[in-house]
Amino acid sequence: MKKKILVVLFLGLFSLLVLPSFALAGGHGHKHAVKKGILLVAFGSSIPEAQISFKNIDKKTKKTFKNIPVHWAYTSKIIRKKLARQGTYLDSVATALAKMMDQGFTHVAVQSLHTIRGEEYDELVRTAHAFKSMPEGINHIVIGAPLLSTQNDMEKVVAAIIKNIPRKRKKKEAVVLMGHGTHHPANAFYAALMFNLQRQDPNIFVGTVEGSPEIGDIKAMLKEKRIKKAYLMPFMSVAGDHARNDMAGDEDDSWKSVLTKARVKCSVVLKGTAEYDNMVNIWIEHLKAAMAHF
Ligand code: CO
Repeated sequence: MKKKILVVLFLGLFSLLVLPSFALAGGHGHKHAVKKGILLVAFGSSIPEAQISFKNIDKKTKKTFKNIPVHWAYTSKIIRKKLARQGTYLDSVATALAKMMDQGFTHVAVQSLHTIRGEEYDELVRTAHAFKSMPEGINHIVIGAPLLSTQNDMEKVVAAIIKNIPRKRKKKEAVVLMGHGTHHPANAFYAALMFNLQRQDPNIFVGTVEGSPEIGDIKAMLKEKRIKKAYLMPFMSVAGDHARNDMAGDEDDSWKSVLTKARVKCSVVLKGTAEYDNMVNIWIEHLKAAMAHF
């Protein structure tokens, strides 16, 4: 009799000790062991020097989330094709999620490494939702917001930008940031960023390559303030094609040429935002916040 009770007690204890490590996921009677993963999603860049930004984010993510596998995807088809021709194969978001699904990931945190909530981000959200609703899909997918999403992000981004300005710049000299810009309504973030920056430092300007404000608008603003020198800095995660050519290139229509012609001396800084730890920390905080919803 006593022996039986002891055995029951032992089994009870045993199951208490062992079961928690087999936490279950999935609500359809399937018993999958929890397998967490991270998918970092960037627009991508084919410029070798720009990889420093992605390597920095990769390193910081792995350091923050130890033991959680980190996967990558690029949203730009053009970049993926270009890289493939050079023998480097990057996944799209759909391919990366399909692979993770097949590898049995039950919980995936997708972190957008984009700057604003534009078209690339919208598409990322739609793709992630598709995998969530798919039979045998990934039941738990959470998405981390891009760099500049809330007013709280705005304040952090403004503080980081001001900290990252080269020390030798004098207050009467301008800092001109180059954002990407888009036809998406989120383009308004660039002007909002300039407003928030100028409340702290009236000579910081934000223009875009493909949206508004344009370089012509910025040139007029510099002229009005009689500014003679400007530091040009990309406001994109990488110092890629746009930074090297559209901003700092020697072509007639580069920002450097346009401003130089308007008698503004230009000094270029070829560093993407993801090369600065204070910026990367904002993305990492977003990833942490997303993972809290698992
Ligand atoms: Co572009």
